[in-house]
Amino acid sequence: MPDVAVVGAGYVGLTTAACLAHLGHRVVCADIDAERVARLGKGEVPILEDGLPDLVAQGIAAGRLRFVVGARAAAAEAEFVFLCVPTPQGDDGAADLSYVEDVAREIAPVLRPGTVVVNKSTMPVGSTRLVERILGEAGASIEEIRVASNPEFLREGSSVRDFLHPHRVVIGCDDPAVAVRVSDLYRSLNAPILVTDPASAEMIKYASNAFLATKISFVNAIANLCEALDADVRDVTLGMGYDPRIGFEFLHPGPGYGGSCFPKDTAALLHTARSVGYAFPLLEGVVEVNRRQQVRMVERLRAALEGRLEGRTVAVLGLTFKANTDDLRDSPALVVAAALVAAGARVRAYDPAAGERAADAVPGLEVCADPYEACGGAEALAVLTEWDEFRWLDYDRIRGCMAGAVLLDARNLLDPSAMRRRGFRYQGVGRS
Ligand code: UDX
Repeated sequence: MPDVAVVGAGYVGLTTAACLAHLGHRVVCADIDAERVARLGKGEVPILEDGLPDLVAQGIAAGRLRFVVGARAAAAEAEFVFLCVPTPQGDDGAADLSYVEDVAREIAPVLRPGTVVVNKSTMPVGSTRLVERILGEAGASIEEIRVASNPEFLREGSSVRDFLHPHRVVIGCDDPAVAVRVSDLYRSLNAPILVTDPASAEMIKYASNAFLATKISFVNAIANLCEALDADVRDVTLGMGYDPRIGFEFLHPGPGYGGSCFPKDTAALLHTARSVGYAFPLLEGVVEVNRRQQVRMVERLRAALEGRLEGRTVAVLGLTFKANTDDLRDSPALVVAAALVAAGARVRAYDPAAGERAADAVPGLEVCADPYEACGGAEALAVLTEWDEFRWLDYDRIRGCMAGAVLLDARNLLDPSAMRRRGFRYQGVGRS
């Protein structure tokens, strides 16, 4: 009997399944997509995540990890059932819990007495109660089934490392015995384990992401001020970061935050706040600063091109929401590229991981096979995602194949003086 069933083989589910198998648990991972399950069964991992393919192969080889189609098949045999299905953003900003509800209804009739259902996907405060209610309504003997919240804090691109070296493991559950059982799954990680009530555990996730988003919007606002005051944001954040109450992390200014989490989770938290009549101007400000930061990048390019984007050629390096991922969801780089296309510019872009899909996402965006091709004939170049390889490009060659000299380094990736020596009209974010 497998210890654990993981429902949903997206980046949270797959990372959770592969890492729990790596920790020695017997794991069955379920997904509704039969083709995805078939590929995973052969060890083919359809997402770009450092170390994940090895862990999946290792788990399959050790007989501790297997993949099935459908949640019921997995849940019927398991002691723990992790719900790792999508909770996308709904029209009103609320988290859409329909996938969670569907899975809860599907597994309810087959859960064994003593099974613990674990909410792993990001779900708003009250979701543990919701799952308990649906399981009960759908035929589970709720007296013998327990539900716990166990939010993940994985970053895309480093999810395996984040799972195996967590800052903390959070468990939200009313039943201390169940909390001990869930924490036992993570015992070999030697990480701090915080056991609390479900609502607090659910809030820890949202508050953590909202706080990180706040840090980024704050540093982007400070960076914009630095531009107006001729200060250098890199020195400013260095000076701030020495204070351990502030820290150095998440103080990198740029084109704004994106991805599948921060935009969605800040919107969901604002929705939750509204639903209980709490005004949250601070977080509204964070979201607004982030929206303006993306617009600001477009306006800076327009200003650098004598106020006209129509008919100009702009090269873009980076389309994913951050480096080391192939994820384009809510990517600021893609928002900027799309706005440039909408303004009538010819946009030639390069991204190491997501080029083709970006072309589908932004009609009119020309995606090139290499960065030099993208820069050919461009009057301006915008570096929008902090891929490491962009540091080491031949900028003499790039300057030579561009028609203009404008360089907007929206990630402060490059050395301003080195770029100016090469004849670029260099602009960073928060530094002159
Ligand atoms: C985030 C959280 O970090 C993670 O704990 C949570 O579980 C899921 O959401 P992720 O979305 O993968 O992870 O990306 P993250 O590395 O946090 O970056 C989010 C966005 O902020 C990216 O667009 C990134 O470029 C931007 N960012 C990050 C900055 O602009 N500046 C920074 O200093 C850090």
